[in-house]
Amino acid sequence: MIKGFIFDLDGVITDTAELHYEAWKKLSDDMGWFFDRELNEKLRGISRMDSIKVIMDHNKVSLDEATVEELATKKNDIYVDSLDTMTEEDFLPGAKELLTHLRAEGFSVALGSASKNAPKVLQQLKATHYFDVVGDGNSVEKSKPAPDIFLFAAEKMRLPADNCIVFEDAEKGIDAAKTGGFYSVGIGPEERVGHADLRFDTMKEATLFEVKSFFSDLF
Ligand code: G6P
Ligand code: MG
Repeated sequence: MIKGFIFDLDGVITDTAELHYEAWKKLSDDMGWFFDRELNEKLRGISRMDSIKVIMDHNKVSLDEATVEELATKKNDIYVDSLDTMTEEDFLPGAKELLTHLRAEGFSVALGSASKNAPKVLQQLKATHYFDVVGDGNSVEKSKPAPDIFLFAAEKMRLPADNCIVFEDAEKGIDAAKTGGFYSVGIGPEERVGHADLRFDTMKEATLFEVKSFFSDLF
């Protein structure tokens, strides 16, 4: 029986990938590191510290931990500044409609994001009220593909994993949902989230009607 929904934030509720890209690009340019959109794709869903390590590995750079943290903070300052431009117009098409529908039907709704900036993003979008529980980058230690953030969200909703559907745009996010025993909906191309139970190209197609029709035995 499905009673709860857990949403990733970046790439599901709103598209912050471009803002993350611009901030990492600025840091990389300053450092003389290579960084492009293809590499940016590898950062989808993973934590800030894991992200900088992916970029440094790609550039065959090794630095002491304190410097790495300093650089990650520098990137974050650029990213956080750019969030000021975000407004309630910046929901991905279909996301607000789905959240509204879930609220109206009385489902429990949680956020399960790797971002430590998730509360600020929700504030900018004026979306905080759609969520009973907010799980973000501060809630758990291990980031996706570990299932911890989704297990945290489910526990706070007082629901077992198999009562929840996770919405994710990242390959590692779907891995996390599956490892945790959740049902999963992938948002994006087959090559990225084709391993989800159900997949839509964009949130626009991901209506409650479509989800209920697919998982009909569970509602
Ligand atoms: C999300 C994004 C990642 C980002 C991570 C951490 O999962 O998809 O690209 O690295 O959050 O974000 P933060 O805001 O804490 O740096
Ligand atoms: Mg995401």
